[in-house]
Amino acid sequence: MNQTGQTQDELKTLVAQAALKHVVPGEYLGVGTGSTVNKFIDALAASGLNIKAAVSSSNASTERMLSLGLPVVALTQVERIAVYIDGADEIDAKGFMVKGGGAALTREKIVAAQADKFVCIADVSKRVAVLGRFPLPVEVIPMAAPQLIRQFAAMGGKASLRQSNGQALLTDNGQQILDVVGLQITDPLGFENTVSQWPGVVTVGVFAHQRAHVCLLGTAQGVQTLVYD
Ligand code: 5RP
Repeated sequence: MNQTGQTQDELKTLVAQAALKHVVPGEYLGVGTGSTVNKFIDALAASGLNIKAAVSSSNASTERMLSLGLPVVALTQVERIAVYIDGADEIDAKGFMVKGGGAALTREKIVAAQADKFVCIADVSKRVAVLGRFPLPVEVIPMAAPQLIRQFAAMGGKASLRQSNGQALLTDNGQQILDVVGLQITDPLGFENTVSQWPGVVTVGVFAHQRAHVCLLGTAQGVQTLVYD
């Protein structure tokens, strides 16, 4: 709870509601994944806004949208997405993000790359000076995981396989997630370029090339709109 008594959950609700203003009626809308996005999906369904269809970044978001009667199409059917709306685990002063806490980073990056504009919705706890406070998610091909753990160790990070019900978690793509702690990512573009080239890495959770254009940040003073050049 913050000084004005709002919980993190309430701040997420505020930014989810504020994101409705960024939906372009009649156009395709990219939809991310996570608890903040769930609130956005609920708000979108309740708003009656008319989108051409949503393009989803995860099975979980697809199921939620369909259950609320929102139209969803495959990315393969779409050439251009007007706006992509998604949360983040961290966002810095330039709109560079860490994402993947919900294990959906690969599809999130793919859908974001096809959108004209990325609107990040986040509560103020996600704002950081330097990326690396939140464990960095990396989707990997399982056979490469031990070698990739050693490569992260060589750069000062400690990587571990994300677990679910006592087993390695499998993503929507049937791959695994490494969570890496102990990194200070001072050069997000360079870091994303480097790690993306390691054999066995499917997607690194640094979103530098697919950074946010706008962040709706939920704070004790209300929703701040941050626009990045
Ligand atoms: C999912 C993500 C989410 O956007 C990120 O984890 C933030 O989630 P939440 O809105 O639940 O805090 O990247 O892969």
